[in-house]
Amino acid sequence: MNRAALQRYGYSIHALRLEARKRLPRMLFDMVDGAAGDEVTVKRNVDDIAALQVVPKVLAGAATRSQATELFGHKLASPIIVAPTGLAGLLWPHAELSAARAAARFGTIYTTSHASTSTMEEIAAETKGPKWMQVFLYKDRGLTAEFVSRAQAAGYQGLVLTVDNQVMAVRDRDARNGLMFPMKLRARGFLDLASHPGWLLRMRRAPNPTFVNYGTRTSIGAFGPVMAEQLDPDIGWKDVEWVRSLWQGPMILKGLLDPQEAREAEARGVDAIIVSNHGGRQLDGAVSGIRALSAIVDAVGDKTVVLVDGGFRRGMDVVKALALGARAVLIGRPQLWGVACGGEEGVHWVLEIFAREIDRAMALGGWDGIGKLDRSIFAA
Ligand SMILES: Cc1cc2nc3c(=O)[nH]c(=O)nc-3n(C[C@H](O)[C@H](O)[C@H](O)COP(=O)(O)O)c2cc1C
Repeated sequence: MNRAALQRYGYSIHALRLEARKRLPRMLFDMVDGAAGDEVTVKRNVDDIAALQVVPKVLAGAATRSQATELFGHKLASPIIVAPTGLAGLLWPHAELSAARAAARFGTIYTTSHASTSTMEEIAAETKGPKWMQVFLYKDRGLTAEFVSRAQAAGYQGLVLTVDNQVMAVRDRDARNGLMFPMKLRARGFLDLASHPGWLLRMRRAPNPTFVNYGTRTSIGAFGPVMAEQLDPDIGWKDVEWVRSLWQGPMILKGLLDPQEAREAEARGVDAIIVSNHGGRQLDGAVSGIRALSAIVDAVGDKTVVLVDGGFRRGMDVVKALALGARAVLIGRPQLWGVACGGEEGVHWVLEIFAREIDRAMALGGWDGIGKLDRSIFAA
């Protein structure tokens, strides 16, 4: 979709999701849209944000508003950050390079996933925009150390250690579609791919994406189990301390929901916490990010940056998170729907939608800066 089409048909994040559904083979749409178990938590993420009611100050006269913010010395145009999302390159050729360019152009942080389909070095070199690198703790600690030192050498400013993915969850939609490791595509799967000629044609520009950061040319289907086998379920605070000791610069722990663990992280020199249930893709039944947020904000000191993700689809959703004490919000699926629809322009459009909606919400609520957002905006 070009810009005109994005404006015409992708008028909101929900509209873009529906456009992505038309454009992507069903198995890839489901790979993004689906979640673990009965998909209770993924739904809860959205529902819990929606359930929060705010009381606007209609005569406060917020004629001009500012949503710009600063995080670790980076000036962000808006308090939204691109979340790490693996295998985006299945949706659009070189999707990560496109998304990184969009984030830089918009003025926010791009987070590279361990499973990006361009190397972390290629993504780092693509733009001058601020970037974070996401890593895991592997049984082979040398592999984790190697990811960290490569990220440092490539110029990433922040390191995200994701800690809620040490065991791969089972996602029913992927099982149904045969998108499992090792892959079991059935005839229906091939038909699904063949019936999306636009996607097939586009993907000829970057066929056979792989887990390039692992230095492998083996297919995703074949390498997936090798990668998954490396994830170490025996993760603990000593490992967090160890990764902290390897990295110079802000270290961000992704996937905490418990205030006590947030306090522990702070004590171990973690600079930021992403309150997250991995978009409902890991432990189904876990509390929503928005619900876990305030207790974590209260548990840590002022110096620890608290971020949140999961289910943010509207500008007003972001406003609510900021009012509960988050410094910014990460968006996962929305930017994937954007990239699936229009590559770089699609991701930029997604960021624009959020910024525009945040601005309108602030105008209607009578909040002229994000400093005005605190818990007093919520209905008693
Ligand atoms: C397709 C997909 C792939 C993801 N891959 C990763 C990943 O590689 N590393 C990671 O830390 N989180 C990953 N996530 C989780 C996101 O970073 C984020 O926590 C989540 O998507 C936020 O919820 P939202 O999609 O409702 O915005 C992924 C999410 C999706 C949808």
